[in-house]
Amino acid sequence: MQAEKSFHMTPEEFRRYGHAVIDWIADYHSHIESFPVLSRVKPGEIRASLPAGPPRHGEPFEALLRDVEKLILPGVTHWQSPNFFAYFPCNASGPGILGDLLSSGLGVQGMLWSTSPACTELETVVLDWLVPMLGLPNKFLSSSTGGGVIQDTASSASLCALLAARERATNYMSNVRGCDGRLVAYASTQTHSSLQKAAMISGIGVSNLRLIEVDETFAMRPDGLARQVEADKRAGLLPCFVCATVGTTSSNAMDPIADIARVCREHNLWLHVDAAMSGTAALCPESRHFQNGVEHADSYCFNPHKWMFTNFDCDCFWVADRKVLIRTLSILPEYLRNKATESGAVIDYRDWHIQLGRRFRSLKLWLVIRYYGVEGLQHHIREHVRLAQQFADWIRNDDRFELAAPAPLNLVCFRHKAGDEANQTIMDRLNRSGDLFLTHTRLNDKLTLRLCVGQTNTQERHVQAAWRRIQEEASKASK
Ligand SMILES: Cc1ncc(COP(=O)(O)O)c(C=O)c1O
Repeated sequence: MQAEKSFHMTPEEFRRYGHAVIDWIADYHSHIESFPVLSRVKPGEIRASLPAGPPRHGEPFEALLRDVEKLILPGVTHWQSPNFFAYFPCNASGPGILGDLLSSGLGVQGMLWSTSPACTELETVVLDWLVPMLGLPNKFLSSSTGGGVIQDTASSASLCALLAARERATNYMSNVRGCDGRLVAYASTQTHSSLQKAAMISGIGVSNLRLIEVDETFAMRPDGLARQVEADKRAGLLPCFVCATVGTTSSNAMDPIADIARVCREHNLWLHVDAAMSGTAALCPESRHFQNGVEHADSYCFNPHKWMFTNFDCDCFWVADRKVLIRTLSILPEYLRNKATESGAVIDYRDWHIQLGRRFRSLKLWLVIRYYGVEGLQHHIREHVRLAQQFADWIRNDDRFELAAPAPLNLVCFRHKAGDEANQTIMDRLNRSGDLFLTHTRLNDKLTLRLCVGQTNTQERHVQAAWRRIQEEASKASK
C-alpha cells in the first residue's frame, strides 16, 4: 500500500530538529554578550533581505535554521543580554523557555475548564501560590471571594479592571446601553499609557480620564485625587475607577496606595493597582512596604514577564470580587455550553478576560517557580536591587552626574549635569557602540537617562562595565 501523501514533520524529524533548535538557543545564550545589544539594522533592511513571496515547495529545516541565524538575528535587539538596561526588562530563563515549549508542544486551547482541565486548574493553583509569595491579601485567593487569572499583558489587565469598575458603577448597564459620557476614571500624570488606551477602548474616553498631579517623587497626590473626584461629583459626573502604580514606568515612582485607597473607599471607586514590573520585588518581604494598602485594592496586576524570569507573555491579574469581573465579561453562546460550566463547579477563564481562546501560560510560570523556588527568586531579585543601588551610589558620588528621581528598587534615573544635549549624545553613543542599551525619559522637563537592572544574567561586572562606559562617554561629551 502506498503511504498517504504528507508534508508534515514526523515525530522523528521533530526530535532531530528540536534538539538542533535547543542547541541553537543554548549557543545563542552562551554567546549573547558578543552581539551589539541594540540591533544595528536600518529600517527596511530585514524586509529587503527576505523573499517577497512564500516558497512554492517546502524547504529543509536546516535551511530555515540557517536563515534565522543569517537573516533574522542581525535584526534582533538582544533583550536577554546582561548588558540590556533599557525600558523595563522582559527577562526569560531556562525553565521559562522550556515551559513555553511544553505549552506549544501540548498545543492546548484552554478557553473553558472542559477544553483542558489542567490548563485551568494549574493556573488557579499557581495564582493562589503567588498571593502569599507576594504578600497580597487573602481576598485575592480563589478560596475567597476573588481569584487570579493570567492575562497576556498589564494593558489587558488594566482594561479588564476598568471594564469591571465601569459595570459595577452602572449596575451592569454600560454593557447594555454603552457609556453616556458621565463615567470618570483617575490615574496620575505618570501612569502608564495603557490606561489611556483602556479609557479609549472602554468607552470612558480619554477626556474622562483625569491625570492627577504628582509630588516631587513623581507619586500621585491623594489630596489632588480627592479634590478632583469631589469636583467631578459636583459637576454631576460618575467617578468609578482609580489606577495606582507600584513602580511607574518613567521613574519607578510609588503611588501611596493606602492614602489613595482612603479616597476610593470614601467615594466607592474601584482601586486597581498596577505593579507591572515592581510587583516582583514583593517576593522579598523587605520590599513589600511599597504596596502598603494593597489590602484595599479591588484588583492588582504584575508581570512575571518583566522581572520574574518568565518568558513573555505573562501578566498575573487578581480581583477581590470575581463575580463582578465575570458578570462584566461573560457571555455564553450555545456552542460553548457544556455540563461542567453548567454545574457551576469549575472556573471558565474565558469569562475573566477579553479574548476567548487562551494559551497554557501557567505551565511556564509553574516551572519557573518550582525550578527557582521562592529562595532562588528572592536571591536574584535582591541581587538586581543591590546592583542598581550600587549604581545609584556611583552617580551620587560623581559630581558630573545627578539622580533625577529616588531609586527605590532596580531603576536608576540619572543625568549628566551638562544638560539635554550632552545626555542625548552620551546615550546615543553608548547605544551605537553596542556595549549596552539604555533608554531615556523626561523628568521635570529634563532629558533623563534610565538604567534598569533586571536581566536574568546581569552580574556585578556588567553594571561596572556599564558605569565605566557611561563615564568614558561623559568625559568625551564634556570636552
Ligand atoms: C507600570 C506599567 N504598567 C503597564 C505596562 C504595560 O505593560 P504590558 O506590555 O504588559 O501591557 C508597563 C510597561 O512597561 C508598565 O511599566
